[in-house]
Amino acid sequence: MNTNDYSQWFRGSTPYISAHRGKTFVVFIGGDALAHSNITNIAHDLALLHVLGVRLVLVHGGRPQLDAALPSSVLHNHRRITQPGDMDSVTGVYGLLRSQLEGLFSTGLPNTPLHNVDISVVSGNFVTAKPLGVLDGVDHLLTGQLRSLDSARIDQLLQAGNIVLQSPLGFSNSGQPFNLAAEELAADMAIVLKADKVIFFDQQQHLHTASGERESTVTPSSLDAYLDAMPAATAQRFKAMARSVRAGVTKAHQISYETDGGLLQELFTADGAGTQLVEEKAHPVRAAMLDDVGDIVEIIRPLEESGALVRRSRDRLEQEIDQFLVAELDGVIVGCCAVYPNDEQAELACVAVSGLYRRGSAGVAIGANLLAAAEQHARTLGAKELFVLTTQTQEWFLERSFKSGDVEDLPTAKQSLYNWQRGSKVLRKILS
Ligand SMILES: CC(C)(COP(=O)(O)OP(=O)(O)OC[C@H]1O[C@@H](n2cnc3c(N)ncnc32)[C@H](O)[C@@H]1OP(=O)(O)O)[C@@H](O)C(=O)NCCC(=O)NCCS
Repeated sequence: MNTNDYSQWFRGSTPYISAHRGKTFVVFIGGDALAHSNITNIAHDLALLHVLGVRLVLVHGGRPQLDAALPSSVLHNHRRITQPGDMDSVTGVYGLLRSQLEGLFSTGLPNTPLHNVDISVVSGNFVTAKPLGVLDGVDHLLTGQLRSLDSARIDQLLQAGNIVLQSPLGFSNSGQPFNLAAEELAADMAIVLKADKVIFFDQQQHLHTASGERESTVTPSSLDAYLDAMPAATAQRFKAMARSVRAGVTKAHQISYETDGGLLQELFTADGAGTQLVEEKAHPVRAAMLDDVGDIVEIIRPLEESGALVRRSRDRLEQEIDQFLVAELDGVIVGCCAVYPNDEQAELACVAVSGLYRRGSAGVAIGANLLAAAEQHARTLGAKELFVLTTQTQEWFLERSFKSGDVEDLPTAKQSLYNWQRGSKVLRKILS
């Protein structure tokens, strides 16, 4: 990457840095990821998220390590049947893996995000477990599931700037340890903690279509079509992700543990690198607030420079902020427009979508959403007609039921302000 690319990338990541700050991410790191050479880079990238203010809860697994320690143990539906005699090996393997992760966050080597940063990783008895019981006639013995989580204490630890690390172990009220399926525990913890994201590392980089293209976003309901073709471990992880998203976790991400930088690419670029799982939902357009002015300026300045929009000073934007609507995607402001009331004719202006998100590139027609919200807003202001002046975007409006008009069709006050030199086209739409 040359200096220019680097600056571009860094600038492009700024909205994500503010969007992720203060958010809670539960991250699943399986035993396969822990055994891979890229785990050091993953730990550094997680440390970077921590430094940027993300509240991190890490849940580690240990399946390949347990397979090696307990060669005769039996799985049922991809869950291990944990015999009472296995428990010492289970706690021993998890203890080693937990220490490995703690060690990775303790190396203050120069040229890493960990240099001169003290990162405190805290584990504890946060998970109360109960037996999974008899499923399909098979007693799962000391294989358990989450019964309750001490979320208040986890919250306190996160607030105090710690990373919380959880092994897939829980204790019953009588102190009996239970072995938990780590991916299920990660999903359960994300649900109970009302996490903003749950992130799963897997060998597979992302889902892809039949023709081999990356699926950057899928919904839980469309996942079934992919499950059969997946390796069993990946399918388990996707099912856990889908369950957490259905239960209210905003997003789940699958990222390859083999790709250096995959996590950062997924979280800090518009294109991403893995596959994200989200419930289908409306992407909100809301009234703008003074705090949004900086983001609006970022979106409209390049368009003012290219002549697509008339220049507005920051002062003017602040004065007119009540007339603005903004479109959000994952908490990032990606578009704006203004509606100026004028008796029965309202003016639509400054319709703009951030360059990274135009033409539905994020899977959402942000311009169309803004227009629908603007029309609705104009109606509530009592307008019967919406007009817009544009030099470069008339086709877009014509394709959305606007009709060509003349300067004489504008409200009288607007006619006298019309800039003949700019020569904007007048477009009108009757609001039903
Ligand atoms: C116009 C604009 C707001 C549309 O936002 P968007 O989120 O990209 O639009 P949508 O996703 O709703 O629609 C995309 C469609 O509009 C088309 N489109 C986008 N800009 C267009 C333009 N200037 N002229 C004609 N069509 C255009 C795209 O080709 C795409 O068509 P397709 O679905 O056939 O591929 C956005 O392109 C923008 O910010 N443009 C610069 C600012 C501007 O000119 N604003 C209007 C002056 S007030």
